[in-house]
Amino acid sequence: MDRVFVLIANRAVTAPFNLNDLPGSAGRMDIVCRFISQSLFVSHGIRKNVTTYVILKGPPDPVKSIRVEGTQVRYLAPDERNIAGMINKALKSDVGKEWTRVSPGIFISSKELDDVLKEISARNIYYLKETGKDIGNVEISKPVFVIGDHLGVSEEDEKSVLAMSEDVISLGETAYQADQCVTVLNYILDRREHDRSM
Ligand SMILES: C[S@@+](CC[C@H](N)C(=O)[O-])C[C@H]1O[C@@H](n2cnc3c(N)ncnc32)[C@H](O)[C@@H]1O
Repeated sequence: MDRVFVLIANRAVTAPFNLNDLPGSAGRMDIVCRFISQSLFVSHGIRKNVTTYVILKGPPDPVKSIRVEGTQVRYLAPDERNIAGMINKALKSDVGKEWTRVSPGIFISSKELDDVLKEISARNIYYLKETGKDIGNVEISKPVFVIGDHLGVSEEDEKSVLAMSEDVISLGETAYQADQCVTVLNYILDRREHDRSM
C-alpha cells in the first residue's frame, strides 16, 4: 500500500545548521533525520511506495517543508548525518511557495502544514495520537499519517489536522518517538498488504 508520512518538527531550524549538533542548535534535527530514514529505508533499499514530508517550524525563517519521494530518491543513505547533509543542502537553496527540486526525489518549499495537507487531501489523513482509536480496529486506505515530534503537536496544528482527518489513531498507550511510530506503521501496513495478497 502506498503511504505518506508527515512529521511536524516544532523546533527544527530553517537555515543551514551544524551537522555536529543535530539534537542541540539544529532543533532536534536528529528526530527529523531518523523519521526520514525509518519511513523510507528497508534493508538494502528504498521504499518506492513512500512519500515523506517534514514541516520545519524552527528559527530563523519558518515555515519550510521538505518532501522526499521514494520513487525518485537517489544518493541518499539511511544514516542521520547523510540525511542531515541533504536537508542542509536543501536549506541552502532558494525557497519559494512552490516545490524546488534540490536533488533527485528531494524537494523544498515554504509551504506550511495546512498547504501540505491540502495538497494531499485526496488521500485519507490519519492523525496519530495515543488517545485515538486502536489501529487494530481501523481500516486504513490511501493513508497520510501526521505525527508530532518530541513536543507533540501544538493546539493550532492539531485543529488544522483534525479538520481534515479521516480518523485519530493510536498505537497503544505508550508514547513512542516519532520515528518509532513510523517503523510500527510501516510494519503494520506491510503485514496487512501481505495478508491481503494471500
Ligand atoms: C514523542 S511523541 C510526543 C510526546 C509529547 N510529549 C506529547 O505529549 O505529545 C511524538 C508523536 O508520536 C505520536 N505518537 C507517539 N506515541 C503514540 C501512540 N502510542 N499512538 C499514536 N501516536 C503516537 C504522536 O503523533 C506524538 O505527537
